Amino acid sequence: MDRRSSKIFSKIIGIGSYMPEFRLTNSRLEELVDTSDEWIVKRTGIRERRIAMGKATWEMGLAAAQAALADAGLPGEDLDLILVSTVTPDSLTPAVSCVLQDKLGASHAAALDLNAACSGFVYASDVADSYIRAGKAKHVLVVSTERLSGITDYTDRSTCVLFGDGAGAVVYTASEEPCGILSTYMRAEGSLGQSLFAGALPSEPDPLTGDRTIPSNYRFLKMAGSDVFRFTATAVPESIDNALSRAGLEAGDIDWFVLHQANLRILKMVTDRYGLDPEKVYVNIDRFGNTSSASIPLCLAEMKEKGLLKPGQTIVASGFGGGLTYGAIVIKL
Ligand code: COA
Repeated sequence: MDRRSSKIFSKIIGIGSYMPEFRLTNSRLEELVDTSDEWIVKRTGIRERRIAMGKATWEMGLAAAQAALADAGLPGEDLDLILVSTVTPDSLTPAVSCVLQDKLGASHAAALDLNAACSGFVYASDVADSYIRAGKAKHVLVVSTERLSGITDYTDRSTCVLFGDGAGAVVYTASEEPCGILSTYMRAEGSLGQSLFAGALPSEPDPLTGDRTIPSNYRFLKMAGSDVFRFTATAVPESIDNALSRAGLEAGDIDWFVLHQANLRILKMVTDRYGLDPEKVYVNIDRFGNTSSASIPLCLAEMKEKGLLKPGQTIVASGFGGGLTYGAIVIKL
């Protein structure tokens, strides 16, 4: 599929983020579970993560959305579509996207939430791109907002050291310039779904395990970390290789690799696999931990703030996680 056959491109015109102030440090986690700063840093690269402390998922998403719209210089009423990716919506209905549609005064916008876990931002960007290229939307807001602290079990050392809260947002607009999203590649491996599980509505028997008793920690994230790690070793390069080849590019043509921040070792694996200058692989997992779908737009917002993003540069962004899902997009600024 040649994604460049259409004359319309989805160009990024605004990026924003919101990070809660409260920092949960490794030393604080040492007081909660049997872990150590040394283990966490060595095995994950994480030093601290932010915790929402009472802020709702929609509130973080709204702040990120407002920042992205301000960056774009676009009023909410000009939006045609609002896509929110989250695994931690405040309510099953209304969707977070509908709350934002109201708060942003986006009176002409359709709104929908999308759950592709940590791949949510790349999946939502793919949907945004499809609407724009089909001529169904001119301006699309993608918001990735996650309050993982709400589904984290702070007695489980294998997961509680990993996750944090935050939100990031991007505004895409239809453009005739050959820039913006150049290609996308999305996949899922549902057969591995149980390796990263968080319950929603309990059903009996549980559709995945067949269990008839619903445990009290049903809503908490449970992860078979090494299984997911093994999956990323093939899924991440597969998504990057395919997105690059669909864009007619090679790794050497890319200015920035912006990957889901799940583990520093995964970022290093990609750096080695493509023989990259480590400076080209953006890292903020040390300060924010794993914020699921928010992690890629958070990186983009931080890179923009630091003046690292320049017109004409090309980025490959790759997301992977619950579902299991994975995917990558190539974007020219
Ligand atoms: N502190 C200290 N020890 C810990 C620990 C912690 N916080 N968490 C786990 N351990 C222990 C385990 O109990 C195990 O001990 P044992 O050998 O005595 O049984 C040992 O460390 C190794 O555990 P393991 O799970 O094999 O560690 P790992 O090296 O695989 O690292 C992850 C765990 C979760 C960091 C890693 O598997 C990972 O990053 N997986 C991928 C995550 C991902 O990509 N997610 C996708 C999106 S969410």
